[in-house]
Amino acid sequence: MTDKSSNQMWGGRFAAGPDAIMEAINASIGFDQRMAAQDIAGSRAHAAMLAATGVISDSDADAIAKGLLTVLSEIQDGKFEFSTALEDIHMNVESRLKEVIGEPAGRLHTGRSRNDQVATDFKLWVRDQLDAAEAGLLALIEALLAQAEAGADWVMPGFTHLQVAQPVTWGHHMMAYVEMFGRDLSRVRDARARMNESPLGAAALAGTSFPIDRDMTAKALGFDRPSANSLDAVSDRDFALEFLGTASICAMHLSRMAEELVIWSSAQFRFVALSDRFSTGSSIMPQKKNPDAAELIRAKIGRIFGANTALMMVMKGLPLAYSKDMQEDKELVFDAADSWMLAMAAMNGMVRDMTANRDSLAAAAGSGFSTATDLADWLVRVLGLPFRDAHHITGVLVAMAENNDCDLPDLSLEDMQSVHADITIDVFAVLGVENSVNSRTSYGGTAPTQVRAQIERWKERL
Ligand code: ARG
Repeated sequence: MTDKSSNQMWGGRFAAGPDAIMEAINASIGFDQRMAAQDIAGSRAHAAMLAATGVISDSDADAIAKGLLTVLSEIQDGKFEFSTALEDIHMNVESRLKEVIGEPAGRLHTGRSRNDQVATDFKLWVRDQLDAAEAGLLALIEALLAQAEAGADWVMPGFTHLQVAQPVTWGHHMMAYVEMFGRDLSRVRDARARMNESPLGAAALAGTSFPIDRDMTAKALGFDRPSANSLDAVSDRDFALEFLGTASICAMHLSRMAEELVIWSSAQFRFVALSDRFSTGSSIMPQKKNPDAAELIRAKIGRIFGANTALMMVMKGLPLAYSKDMQEDKELVFDAADSWMLAMAAMNGMVRDMTANRDSLAAAAGSGFSTATDLADWLVRVLGLPFRDAHHITGVLVAMAENNDCDLPDLSLEDMQSVHADITIDVFAVLGVENSVNSRTSYGGTAPTQVRAQIERWKERL
């Protein structure tokens, strides 16, 4: 960072430059330089509109448009010297534009303010991130669909309270995550549609007396329309909050899946093997293969949700219209966006690469009396018992199996009949896990036929 006089942009009424501490707390160029491309796109749209409405000359607009491209390539090539004294990306770009093209640069800021400028730049930046999130989610959903398709009929234990509950299928479990990420996808699309109004031309807060054309700049920047109220346009950070809220819910989903991968890849479970590409080793224990990516994804929710909470606190109670507090929005959103994109990409890689251990899944599927509900249902269906009685009888049989240190299918018919005399040999058919999952054909259920139907519905949707 070089030091330049801060007076060149707004210093007319100032006799002295700012204290170093003032400059340090005030400057945002250290982080908002990430919006350089958006800032220059916004300025090019604004300049073209000023010429079209006769506010500035065509030749000035031309010089501005070309000069801005020069500045952009200097930034992209890493040749631009950012100045803290020039506070932010907006003034850094404009100041450099003046050096490149001279006098016409001073006409660019006609009919706008940094308040509508920053809102526009930041919206464009967040919109790009929503598009990236959409792509990330689609890739992750496809990876999950591939896993679900490969193992639509592989049996595994389903859990509640992390205790074995009922057998389910691998495909069913994968598709549960597809539903979650599918809702995230729809939140991303909703947020994008709602935020896509252009603040540009709201100026400082009140609009402008110049005959600007806000529809023209909105269209040039890919917005659906100009925002309807200039006070709201410069005060609004809902789009950033919705981005963080959407990211938070998705990160929560990612953290749940990450946690399952951590558990499943342990020696105690062996449900999945993570690839070498998405695991790490230990510097002391040679046997270790650690699921670090999953653990870090599990942790990213902390930063993302922290950013969400922090920006809510920043915005809470702010009077209209712009306040400098709002400059604190960017680092939070930048960090959350980086964390979210990386977490989605890492999850995508892990899911694509991982191998489900079909034998371990099947062996575990039958443990823990997972077909006890099937037994109770049989007592209802075949013997006509009320469900509560069937539940009790099954409980007694489970206790008996537990005492004998065996699973339900290992009990003899005599054992069963000692609890209820009418039980017949047919009951054993429902105690197998394959039978159990195949029977759960209700809409959205775990039966492979239902899982394949879910997969088909998703493939049509995509
Ligand atoms: N750097 C500022 C921000 O990020 C730009 C807007 C400054 N506006 C102002 N009136 N000081 O919010």
